[in-house]
Amino acid sequence: MKILIVYASTEGQTRKIAQFCADHLIEQSHSVEVLGAGDAKDVDLGRFDAALVAGSVHAGRYQKPLVKFAKRQAEKLNGMNAAFMSVSLAAAGDDAEDWDGLKECVARFASKTGWSPPKVFHVAGAFRFTEYDFFKSWAMRWIASQKGEDVDPHVDKEMTDWAALKTTVDNWLGT
Ligand SMILES: Cc1cc2nc3c(=O)[nH]c(=O)nc-3n(C[C@H](O)[C@H](O)[C@H](O)COP(=O)(O)O)c2cc1C
Repeated sequence: MKILIVYASTEGQTRKIAQFCADHLIEQSHSVEVLGAGDAKDVDLGRFDAALVAGSVHAGRYQKPLVKFAKRQAEKLNGMNAAFMSVSLAAAGDDAEDWDGLKECVARFASKTGWSPPKVFHVAGAFRFTEYDFFKSWAMRWIASQKGEDVDPHVDKEMTDWAALKTTVDNWLGT
């Protein structure tokens, strides 16, 4: 299959996840193109059998370039095998309120863009202290403490379950 992966990433974890998915699919002899959302506005989706669109949650929102891409390509995305991957820290836990919040984020994204992804994958992201400024670092340490998560403010902490991610992608494409 020919697969397009479009991603937006603020601190880098969604980029890493997009690349990981691409490498995994290439290992299975698929042909994969990976594009940052800002470069994907005019991509011809007709060239692809499937598309994976990935972005991360920051204060309940996905990145603007990703919203722009999905809005511009909504008609095509609605008519093809396209899945949405939402990367967040809420997805690392099992707090019911957090999960309701994630569902709201996706619903808001769908209503803003006009693309209603039939498949939505929630993937746990990372604390990326090496990428944060002072204020972000402080806020993320506070969030970690609220969640009982043990973090070192100088060390990144990945919550992504890479094996589960492979299974998610395999199940999506039925491989
Ligand atoms: C300023 C800021 C706000 C965030 N807001 C949320 C949020 O509202 N909900 C959530 O689950 N995760 C939130 N996160 C966690 C990110 O979604 C997580 O770190 C993710 O891995 C970021 O992906 P990226 O590195 O691709 O940008 C936030 C992170 C930062 C730095």
